Amino acid sequence: MVRIRTTSALVAIFLMIQAALLIFMFARQTNIMGQSDKKTSKVHILILSSWRSGSSFVGQLFSQHPDVFYLMEPAWHVWVTMYQSSAKVLQMAVRDLIRSVFLCDISVFDAYLPGNRNISDLFQWAVSRALCAVPACEFFQRTDIISEMTCKALCGKYPFGNVEQACKTYSHIVLKEVRLFDLTALYSLLTDPSMNLKILHLVRDPRAVVKSREQAVKALARDNGIVLNTNGTKVEDSKYEVMREVCKSHVQIYETATQKFPSFLKDRYMMVRYEDLVSDPLGEILEMYNFANLTLTNKLESWMYNITHGHGPGSRKEAFKITSRDAVNVSQAWRNILSFHKIRKIQEVCKGAMNLLGYQLIETEKEQNDLSLDLVLPRQQHQFAWSSFKVKK
Ligand SMILES: *[C@@H]1O[C@H](CO)[C@@H](O)[C@H](O)[C@H]1NC(C)=O
Ligand SMILES: *[C@@H]1O[C@H](CO)[C@@H](O)[C@H](O)[C@H]1NC(C)=O
Ligand SMILES: *[C@@H]1O[C@H](CO)[C@@H](O)[C@H](O)[C@H]1NC(C)=O
Ligand SMILES: *[C@@H]1O[C@H](CO)[C@@H](O)[C@H](O)[C@H]1NC(C)=O
Ligand SMILES: *[C@@H]1O[C@H](CO)[C@@H](O)[C@H](O)[C@H]1NC(C)=O
Repeated sequence: MVRIRTTSALVAIFLMIQAALLIFMFARQTNIMGQSDKKTSKVHILILSSWRSGSSFVGQLFSQHPDVFYLMEPAWHVWVTMYQSSAKVLQMAVRDLIRSVFLCDISVFDAYLPGNRNISDLFQWAVSRALCAVPACEFFQRTDIISEMTCKALCGKYPFGNVEQACKTYSHIVLKEVRLFDLTALYSLLTDPSMNLKILHLVRDPRAVVKSREQAVKALARDNGIVLNTNGTKVEDSKYEVMREVCKSHVQIYETATQKFPSFLKDRYMMVRYEDLVSDPLGEILEMYNFANLTLTNKLESWMYNITHGHGPGSRKEAFKITSRDAVNVSQAWRNILSFHKIRKIQEVCKGAMNLLGYQLIETEKEQNDLSLDLVLPRQQHQFAWSSFKVKK
């Protein structure tokens, strides 16, 4: 009897050691996997665009995704703080701020924000769904679709440290910027092994951009001064000097990425035209998500359908006024509103960009008024870019 008891005790001890070993190995395994996940799986997307080109809308398409930490225009703080400087001089400060935010080092805002601050001090914080959900704000889940207004009412008073804490929990960091004019400034980020940066270049017909800029003349005056290096003087873009710079930068970015294509840009650049997005929202969204390695959930798809068809919750305010029925009208509105004289001027300034990006110039007022004449040409197929960057569904 004694022998049997001893044996079973030994067996029990043996089994306990075995179990402990298994638990230890399992814990180690998951830990290692967790670490390697962190290193390799983060995706950094920069939506590179220009004022009044639909980038807030595109930003929302990413911001509402439960895997995405999104900030709109973090470099706004750089420009506001150093408003007497020029876009060219500020470019590297913008680049470095972007890099820090991509790596969730939010202390970079120490240079631009007061010491005693909370989440609501961040420019346009409430359009960032990630700043409206746990762990940044306890009122919403990250899978919720959260409107700017609801978020603003509930989430503004949380401590600033929550921004960094939240950022670290996401697999995808997406930033939207209109304050960068030169792709080469981003080379060091594109080759940085701690980053996995992809550039989503959003463009829009310059004539439609001007029409939209005319509705926001005051709001753009300070930025215009920085683009034109006026030492802090606000200016109206009456001679389209800012548009000239904007168009020049689109050419620079697009040509660098598609014609000079340094090898590190392979699969890291995608150009989207706002007009294509408006006429086929779901198709374009799927391509952008594919580029970003994001999955479209049923809930997001339903929300996107709603906002592009003008109904359902969340479609009232914000940048969601596009309905697919009047999508063509929205794209074409400039033809009814701008004078032929103005259109000629814009075309003069932006000719290179328009030819490159597929926006047909008009020669006569007759063409301006003939709305059956489609001025958005089909995307060019001859580019290296389309065959290798864009994956067809
Ligand atoms: C947080 O932000 C709100 C709104 O801007 C402000 O009223 C409040 O004083 C801020 N709190 C702190 C601790 O900074
Ligand atoms: C810029 O403006 C400030 C005043 O706002 C002035 O003191 C400074 O001299 C100006 N700099 C240049 C280069 O004109
Ligand atoms: C895309 O994301 C999935 C997980 O959702 C991951 O397994 C895969 O490796 C990612 N692909 C790329 C190219 O990053
Ligand atoms: C889309 O709109 C429909 C009808 O108004 C609504 O039932 C649905 O919940 C909306 N979807 C989302 C995700 O908001
Ligand atoms: C499109 O615009 C035209 C002229 O501005 C207008 O008459 C028409 O009702 C609009 N269509 C829609 C669907 O909004």
